[in-house]
Amino acid sequence: MEYQNILLTVHEKIATLTVNRPQKLNAVSSQVLSEIGAAAQHAASDRDIGVLIVTGAGEKAFVAGADIAEMSSLDAAGAKAFSEHAQRMLDALEACPKPVIAAVNGYALGGGTELALACHIRICSTNARFGQPEVALGLMPGAGGTRRLSRVVGRAAALHMILTGDQITAEEAMRIGLVSKVVEPGELMATAEAIARTILSRAPLAVRYALEAVRRGAEMPLSEAFGLESSLFGLCCATEDMKEGTSAFVRKAKPSFKGR
Ligand code: CAA
Repeated sequence: MEYQNILLTVHEKIATLTVNRPQKLNAVSSQVLSEIGAAAQHAASDRDIGVLIVTGAGEKAFVAGADIAEMSSLDAAGAKAFSEHAQRMLDALEACPKPVIAAVNGYALGGGTELALACHIRICSTNARFGQPEVALGLMPGAGGTRRLSRVVGRAAALHMILTGDQITAEEAMRIGLVSKVVEPGELMATAEAIARTILSRAPLAVRYALEAVRRGAEMPLSEAFGLESSLFGLCCATEDMKEGTSAFVRKAKPSFKGR
């Protein structure tokens, strides 16, 4: 797919997806969402990609939400279709078997918070602002936010954000568990890349199975999720990398993983 609204670069197994509409604070139209979904599928299947970082162009915004100009003319059926499309595209991102890190570099509002929520790890800069301001527009979150935000920060904190529409600071996002790290703006990408490199240094199949257990397990009753966990734990023990990792520990050596 030819991307018009995102940039996708790959360097040493780290792909960086940059939403690139800085003049509109990276607001996501249906087309932008399609490109994000396509890039997620590309990252899933490209052997040269081990980790995907998602960020926004410029210093002001990660993504300032769904494109309000596009939404303003939608009728009920069109809005339902818009929401379903956004949900599908962000699901494609969350379903990526490679770890996805959101590097939130400014405003992450509405669909921007929802995009970050579809990533597996979220870090942000001190100037980041999160929010679900849809009710101020006569809307409600429609790109997975009602579900994912509640899961990540708990129902009460999610409802506080969703029902007031208020923005929260990076510090508050850290306090409620919406992000796992806050850094100075100039350190954001280097920090995301350092996290990516750490993940890439670990056993690739173990990383993949662990991600799958957490992600798919969240959709299952506990007993079924435990069954998935023990099956994937079993698969880890069938890998060469598990033999290498455990024997390197005993040898007091650094493991050399092969992804087998
Ligand atoms: N959609 C379309 N355009 C947007 C946009 C959005 N979500 N957010 C910003 N822009 C545009 C502005 O219209 C403006 O364009 P022009 O220069 O052509 O006028 C440009 O980006 C710069 O924005 P501002 O001048 O408003 O910048 P600011 O610094 O004064 O304010 C802001 C920044 C507080 C983020 C403000 O832009 C804002 O409130 N944006 C909207 C945030 C929002 O409500 N997002 C939720 C959208 S609904 C949604 O996402 C639904 C869903 O879940 C699917």
